[in-house]
Amino acid sequence: MTIIDGKATATEIKKEIAAEVEARVARGEKRPHLAAVLVGHDGGSETYVAHKVKACEECGFDSTLIRREDDITETELLEIVAELNANPEIDGYIVQLPLPRHIDEQKIIMAVDPRKDVDGFHPVNVGRLSLGLPCFLSATPSGIMELLGRYNIETKGKHCVVLGRSNIVGKPVAQLMMQKSNPGNATVTVCHSATPDIREICRQGDIIIAALGQPGFVTADMVKPGAVIIDVGTTRVPDPTRKSGFRLSGDVDFENVAPLCSAITPVPGGVGPMTICSLMRNTLLAASGSVY
Ligand code: GUN
Repeated sequence: MTIIDGKATATEIKKEIAAEVEARVARGEKRPHLAAVLVGHDGGSETYVAHKVKACEECGFDSTLIRREDDITETELLEIVAELNANPEIDGYIVQLPLPRHIDEQKIIMAVDPRKDVDGFHPVNVGRLSLGLPCFLSATPSGIMELLGRYNIETKGKHCVVLGRSNIVGKPVAQLMMQKSNPGNATVTVCHSATPDIREICRQGDIIIAALGQPGFVTADMVKPGAVIIDVGTTRVPDPTRKSGFRLSGDVDFENVAPLCSAITPVPGGVGPMTICSLMRNTLLAASGSVY
């Protein structure tokens, strides 16, 4: 059984990106510049954004963090988005989600220039993904595909069971796994809260991608021996023994599932660290204007 080491792979990829950046700079080109907009003080968002800023340093990017309080109006946030769209210094940017309830997230996403949408959330990028056209891929699905590729996991002709149908993981990863590409070329089943026989369907999966946000949902009796398990869950569960007061829990009962499968991603240290690499890769692509 192989433990898929997302942390080590992410470190490797960041080094590759940093080398590409230095080659750009040596050619007289500018450093890629990523901006992040952070509204409010949500603990998870603070952590994610801090990691993104650190990753920019590791990759040799310039970064700008724009912070606003929870009471920012939708109009004010749309103005920031318009400024970022117009600013030639900024190659790509993200608006960290979730946003406060009085702001329509979809409206903000739609306002981002698709050519700077390094999150890959804009409908133009989502549509291009479903057509198999070059696009900014959203970070988590892209990180999963990168891991499958780098670990030479056979996906062609395999049955891939995706648990969850979110716009940022379940739907795009299902699209990627069914595409005529490598990794890809799998037969994909997407399960969700209204699927009656999830257990039985999982047992038929050669590859299971769990993105439900339900700690320990995938148990040993749901896994075919030799299956590949990709655990996207990162739920914070209270843990008084930790300084932070919580630990991250995946969607898979790792302890009992790991001995059964051929390869598995741990939580933490699996898919999580890869997502930031995908954002860095997208920002580099945005800076070089090579997506579209
Ligand atoms: N919140 C949780 N994940 C993400 C992400 O990938 N991008 C943004 N913008 N917000 C998030």
